[in-house]
Amino acid sequence: MQPTITDTVTAAWKAAWDEGDVDALDAIVTADYQRESTGTKKVTGLAELKQEVLDVRAAFPDLTTRIDKVIASGDDVAIFWTTTGTFTQPLRGVPPTGGVVETRGSNALTLRDGRIAYERVTWDSAELLADLGVPSLGSAFEEAPDVVVDNLSGNLPSDVMKGFNRQFITGVTVVTTVDDEGRPRGLAANSYASISLDPPLVLVCVQKTSSTYPALFQSSHLGINILSNDQLGTVRTFASKAPDKFADLEWHAGPHGTPLIDGSAASLEAEIKERFQAKTHTIFVGRVRHAEVGEAHPMVYKAGHFFDGARLEEL
Ligand SMILES: Cc1cc2nc3c(=O)[nH]c(=O)nc-3n(C[C@H](O)[C@H](O)[C@H](O)COP(=O)(O)O)c2cc1C
Repeated sequence: MQPTITDTVTAAWKAAWDEGDVDALDAIVTADYQRESTGTKKVTGLAELKQEVLDVRAAFPDLTTRIDKVIASGDDVAIFWTTTGTFTQPLRGVPPTGGVVETRGSNALTLRDGRIAYERVTWDSAELLADLGVPSLGSAFEEAPDVVVDNLSGNLPSDVMKGFNRQFITGVTVVTTVDDEGRPRGLAANSYASISLDPPLVLVCVQKTSSTYPALFQSSHLGINILSNDQLGTVRTFASKAPDKFADLEWHAGPHGTPLIDGSAASLEAEIKERFQAKTHTIFVGRVRHAEVGEAHPMVYKAGHFFDGARLEEL
């Protein structure tokens, strides 16, 4: 009996996704094959599909796909599937979490002469990461035009953005965690914000190039220490790339093992709930599990300078 189009597509797909034999896809698509992601609206071709298969398989070496249902009607075919795998290698710059994901998707295929000419997919590697708790804000940025400030270039000059930020006064925190060898790690950050009191949610934005970032990304908890006016040395250490920033520091572990810096104005330990990918940074959202509020006055940061939070003049 002749194999049906469903059999041919399913076999090539499993060869590509489950075994990495991406060239098996050549036989089932037309020369002008196009693939649209319904999430990002991006349209790509066969080369990008092959690369995506290879990238996802590299990140999830045990990836397996189950075809749940195929519905064919003339030249229209819909495939419903479930994929499982363990996130063990980086994907799209996201460090592996070791988590197991089970993700579901569907492809709507349009056939021409028995080959796939066009397919609409409810899934891509960004969706996979979202299923792992690492949603990306990337597509929103790509679609949004830059804010026009000079009417000519349409781009916001970075010195304007810097100038804007210099007008914003914040405290200074040290964001802490432990790495996979149990060593305390941390960096200075003023991107802390309280999201809500009930539930007690906080956020902090961390640059992916930070040496603390991989440990932070893989941690279940993070610490946020609001520095006091007595900790100028501490902020300088944590804004540096010093190999052991905790060497000359008094600190203690919170109930979930996160380093909390002694003498801080306040410290908290939060369970990491979301890791939003925002281009160069990750926005960590945490649910606060423990907090310590001290007597010391906070340090104040404005335009690259540190000030004494005990000597503020009320308006
Ligand atoms: C006042 C201040 C605020 C900062 N805020 C942030 C921040 O919110 N996010 C971030 O990723 N880096 C921030 N930085 C920069 C990092 O602290 C700095 O890049 C540090 O060297 C990173 O260390 P690491 O690479 O060892 O993690 C800030 C630095 C200072 C001085």
